[in-house]
Amino acid sequence: MSQKILDKLDKIEDEAQSVIQEVKNLDDLEKQRIENLGRKSELVKILRSIKDVDPDKRDDIGKKANYVKNKLEETIQTQRKKLVELKLEKEIDEDWIDVTVPPKKLNIGHLHPITQMQQLTENIFTRMGFDIEYPYEIDSEFHNFDAVNIPKNHPARDMWDTFWIEGDNVAITHTSSMQHRIIKSKETPIRTIIPGKCFRNEATDARHEHTFYQVEGIYVDRGITMNNMLGTLKAFFDEFFGQNTNILFTPDFFPFVEPGGMVSIDCSNLSEGFKKVSKGTGWLEVLGCGMIHPKVLEMAGKDPEVYSGFAWGVGLERLIMLKYDIDDIRLFHSGDLRFIRQF
Ligand code: PHE
Repeated sequence: MSQKILDKLDKIEDEAQSVIQEVKNLDDLEKQRIENLGRKSELVKILRSIKDVDPDKRDDIGKKANYVKNKLEETIQTQRKKLVELKLEKEIDEDWIDVTVPPKKLNIGHLHPITQMQQLTENIFTRMGFDIEYPYEIDSEFHNFDAVNIPKNHPARDMWDTFWIEGDNVAITHTSSMQHRIIKSKETPIRTIIPGKCFRNEATDARHEHTFYQVEGIYVDRGITMNNMLGTLKAFFDEFFGQNTNILFTPDFFPFVEPGGMVSIDCSNLSEGFKKVSKGTGWLEVLGCGMIHPKVLEMAGKDPEVYSGFAWGVGLERLIMLKYDIDDIRLFHSGDLRFIRQF
């Protein structure tokens, strides 16, 4: 009788071992566990019946039965580990991402070329020690004109075709509208740029728009000269265009500077489309500038006997036109995506 049980245990072990090692997935493994080690399994039945076996055989059978139980548990454990690993490997295999596949093109927008170039300009002047202020787009007649030495009824006002707004306000015709505030409110040395939108009530053409961007610059300190101005502007242009830039200073009149002038850029080595804009002269006027008029300094509370300074106002679109060979300023505000998407 007891030999029969021992043989049976051997048989259980042999059969279970080979079946368990062949199991292909965790569900089947669990079934095998229940079949071989569960409450209704042969093995558990034997273990339960040990108490009925002859006392002198009980020890052998008990040991053997427990040995088989441990062995099978061990095999199930090993097999489970193997299956879990296989499952993981399979998941990794199926889930892998090919990082070299080019991404789907998302149709997200980007900054307008004017914004991009305004940021470049801010970046260059910030590195030169300038701070940044922004103008009011609608400002008082006083700040746009009187405070920069263009009194009421002065013919110089005709230089700016102005959009007048109720209550003696204007859509600013230039960023010089901030000169008075800046010079008045800041301690010397004053180094500020003012990028912003300006408006002129005039007919448009390839070089003129009713709405455009200027970047004003103001530098006030003791002993500032025209040389400082030209050096500063040249350094800026060289950086902005990423190459050596030839500039031409020609005298001109602005009521808030003395002497005043225009700076033009030599386009011959910059761009082809430019020649069209420059009317074939090879030079494009990009900014007005000059030494700040003593009256402007005085009105803003800085003694012109002690301080001097320079100011400029550059047309941002014109610089971008040169940099990217754009032949019509009206494209910037056209909202034409074929244009915008090129930047
Ligand atoms: N505000 C002038 C314009 O818009 C440009 C300028 C600025 C000229 C500063 C001289 C000094 O035409």
